[in-house]
Amino acid sequence: MKPTVLITSGPTREFIDPVRFLSNTSSGTMGRELARAARRQGCRVIVVSGPAAVPPPAGVTVIPVVSAREMFAQVKRNAPSADIVIGAAAVADYRPRRVERHKIKKGATVMRLELVKNPDIIGYVGRRKKGAVTVGFALESRCLARRARGKLRRKRLDLVVANGPEAAGARSATVRILARSGNDIVLRKASKRTIAERIINEALRLWKDRQTGTAVR
Ligand code: CTP
Repeated sequence: MKPTVLITSGPTREFIDPVRFLSNTSSGTMGRELARAARRQGCRVIVVSGPAAVPPPAGVTVIPVVSAREMFAQVKRNAPSADIVIGAAAVADYRPRRVERHKIKKGATVMRLELVKNPDIIGYVGRRKKGAVTVGFALESRCLARRARGKLRRKRLDLVVANGPEAAGARSATVRILARSGNDIVLRKASKRTIAERIINEALRLWKDRQTGTAVR
């Protein structure tokens, strides 16, 4: 039987008042390519997507969300039926402490916005979901491999896809796929399609190993 793949994708929006929000430049392209690659492998695919610029591929179940907390709720709801969970979303790390009911009017020269931490969605899944294969991303501007390996351990993930800041918005990127086994895969100047295919293949391989009991955990 083919596995179910749950993918988070796109940015999240953290509203300040009814017309303003904090967000980031994620287009959702990586999540879309991962969903496509998983579909090509015959998997059932669920995408929990923030407001992405690119449309999701055909043949996948899309659950649209806006904020990190909504994304978290949908991931918690759908993770129990997933065999592979991939965190490709650019989740806002913080949200405003309070959302004003009415549009904020300008006043003083300096305005302070208090932010509180959002839940770590893929970290939650990694720490709790024992049977599933979990994959996260790490965007690091320095000490790439060391920091990405730290994320792999801390979030208890099976794979971490590490890239530098130059990868954001670029058509091709150099990425390092870190595994618990220590056997890293480096893809140089690869297209997002190629990167997505490799991630899905690695995740499927780990999942199959786990099914046959040959996995190293
Ligand atoms: N992620 C998540 N929930 C969050 C923040 C991040 O699920 N609240 C996921 C992303 O989808 C990605 C991975 O965690 O797969 C790495 O996110 P990143 O922002 O690079 O790292 P952080 O763990 O947030 O650490 P830092 O910002 O300190 O680098």
